[in-house]
Amino acid sequence: MKAFVTVEGGTAAVREIPKPTPGKGEILVRVHYAAQNPTDWKAVPHRPAGRIVGCDFAGTVADPNGSSWREGQRVAGFVYGTMAEPLRGAYAEYLATGSSFVWAIPDSISFQDASTISLAFATAIQAMFQRLGLPEPSKPAKSAFPVLINGGTSSVGLYAVQLAKLAGLYVIATGSKQNHNLLTSLGADAVVDYKDAAWPEKVRELSHDNLQHAFDCISEEETMPVVARALSSTKGGHLLCILPRKNSELPEGFTKVKVESTIVYTVFGDPIDLGDVPFDNWGGPTPEDRSFWEKYLSLLPEYVDSGKIKPNLSRELGGLEAISEGFELQQQGKVRAEKLIYKVT
Ligand SMILES: NC(=O)c1ccc[n+]([C@@H]2O[C@H](COP(=O)([O-])OP(=O)(O)OC[C@H]3O[C@@H](n4cnc5c(N)ncnc54)[C@H](OP(=O)(O)O)[C@@H]3O)[C@@H](O)[C@H]2O)c1
Repeated sequence: MKAFVTVEGGTAAVREIPKPTPGKGEILVRVHYAAQNPTDWKAVPHRPAGRIVGCDFAGTVADPNGSSWREGQRVAGFVYGTMAEPLRGAYAEYLATGSSFVWAIPDSISFQDASTISLAFATAIQAMFQRLGLPEPSKPAKSAFPVLINGGTSSVGLYAVQLAKLAGLYVIATGSKQNHNLLTSLGADAVVDYKDAAWPEKVRELSHDNLQHAFDCISEEETMPVVARALSSTKGGHLLCILPRKNSELPEGFTKVKVESTIVYTVFGDPIDLGDVPFDNWGGPTPEDRSFWEKYLSLLPEYVDSGKIKPNLSRELGGLEAISEGFELQQQGKVRAEKLIYKVT
């Protein structure tokens, strides 16, 4: 089969490789569309040659391998791309994945849209419900307390905004001015422009200085301390990051702010080793993260079919050969409030 794999020299290219064989508890999926996440290009220089790149996919079941899935059934999900043992990657004509790690695509949703959802959605539910401890949509908040989604127009942020609204919260989101209507249409109650230097103070006003939960979907060294300024000046709060940020990166005076970082790959339940990368949630097996993701995988078909959760907008760049161009576009900051997708088969 054709796949986009890591090659010598820290890059990746389309190559012919053997089709995977699903192991015990796994299914084989024929990939029709795959979507791009920053993690895809960030991983490439750090992996040996021969790893399959890509995480998000939508396709059809090619071999149910004894599971309850049917051959030909439409499914979507994400895998830990570029990993070995077992070899995983979505930028390939076929992939093997655990039979419980896919969701059934409703007829109302295209393969294109379905391919864009899983990784960003999984990151949002893990960050907001498991780590920040916010109420879930199945048991919404009794009174709408504020939550801040910084980077509301990022792939993760767009789901975070929608989920926070479903959970009955008062949703404050940041985004560029041209994306404010999009954020409002997805449920943001208040929107601020992160390019305005005084935006954290605006959030303090909007939240009556009572913001105690913030999700920084950008989580860069320079964004996290700015987000901390939006939290309650008297009570502090919990600031969740999805890059490895630490409390020690805050300037003095933020003693009541707790910084935590989380990485989505723990949803597969297996131990992961990120070397000296200080995310707070990796290490041994993570069965709770796995069960939590499996619960939301079973909810996703109804969420998207009913329109409660709307997929990110997408732009189709081409087939596997177009992925290098897509990586460059995202590295140059030219992918905004949209997902790049590729037609694989
Ligand atoms: N820990 C994990 O498991 C995990 C999972 C997924 C992603 N991530 C990481 O999270 C980051 C975002 O990933 P993504 O795929 O969601 O992003 P993305 O879709 O590529 O984000 C692009 C958006 O970010 C917004 N943005 C850029 N700079 C900003 C700033 N300073 N403040 C606020 N918003 C800003 C832009 O908004 P405007 O267009 O409105 O300007 C743009 O639309 C990446 O670093 C990724 O590696 C981590």
